[in-house]
Amino acid sequence: MTPTLLSSPLQGFTDYRFRNSFVKYFDGIDWFYSPYIRLNGKFDVKNAYRRDILPENNDELTVIPQIITNSAEEFLFVSDYVQKLGYSELNWNLGCPYPMVTKRCMGSGLISDSARIDEVLKRVHGESDITVSMKMRMGYDNAQEILDVFPILDKYPIKNVAIHARIGKQLYKGGVDLEAFETCLAHTKHKVYYNGDITTVTAFREMQSKFPSIDHWMIGRGLIADPFLPGMIKANTTEYPDNRKEIFSKFHDTLFEEYASALSGKSHVLIKMLHYWEYFSEVFPESRKTLKRIKKASNLFKYEQAVRENLSNL
Ligand SMILES: Cc1cc2nc3c(=O)[nH]c(=O)nc-3n(C[C@H](O)[C@H](O)[C@H](O)COP(=O)(O)O)c2cc1C
Repeated sequence: MTPTLLSSPLQGFTDYRFRNSFVKYFDGIDWFYSPYIRLNGKFDVKNAYRRDILPENNDELTVIPQIITNSAEEFLFVSDYVQKLGYSELNWNLGCPYPMVTKRCMGSGLISDSARIDEVLKRVHGESDITVSMKMRMGYDNAQEILDVFPILDKYPIKNVAIHARIGKQLYKGGVDLEAFETCLAHTKHKVYYNGDITTVTAFREMQSKFPSIDHWMIGRGLIADPFLPGMIKANTTEYPDNRKEIFSKFHDTLFEEYASALSGKSHVLIKMLHYWEYFSEVFPESRKTLKRIKKASNLFKYEQAVRENLSNL
């Protein structure tokens, strides 16, 4: 059975410019989740979020928008906004681990509040016909929290629950907890998607043999580090194409041009690309040296030289 592969959102990385650059050169992703929309108290969707999900910016892609909130009012407002753009599904983020978010009882900080989750889902299902899907960690403090929420989720026709197999307080430290993830499978009637640490074809195969009932897989950081990964998983191969360097080089240049035309000031472009290289460098031989070359590049000419040198080692 061919797995369904989904791009897990990364705020600051998987925006529409990245998504479009990705589909121009790579394949394997069935649909993309957009990084979350957050309202911040005002009933107004910020321009950056608007641009990211505008249909004309995503016409080659299948995208599902995402929201982070603990308020039914906000959920309904954003549902209405995305439905008017033509979307029929809104994904709810209960995964974000950062204190700025969790302290306000959002992201993974909301998982322990079953009553609030119930209240939001009840109003959304009562007052809107949007399809709701969830993306969550297994808890903030411990992996029991999600088990306490499942009976609430089971009351609603949620499309799926994507589970990042960590808890919030881990941030990104430590490994994924596959035993706790397995426990989740036995405790919900909903369709579960797996998310967390799929970084190589071999890692994917291991997860797949551990969880034969899972057929939807979300890939986040691994997709940025190695955009060949989804296509290789789908083709069931660990071999890169012969023209790997050429394809990656064209992809890089497209991404670079996208940000060069969008961001004001060369230093912003250099910083943006450095953040991507923090991931790209992971699959290059001599990762640290690869990243160091980019870090040292103080202008666009030096950046270009650093990129070419890195690519010559690939
Ligand atoms: C910088 C960064 C930004 C992220 N932004 C989002 C986001 O907007 N929405 C979301 O659901 N998850 C977000 N995530 C979490 C990822 O989508 C994913 O769940 C997590 O990284 C685990 O999967 P992975 O090991 O495949 O990366 C973010 C992660 C990182 C590192």
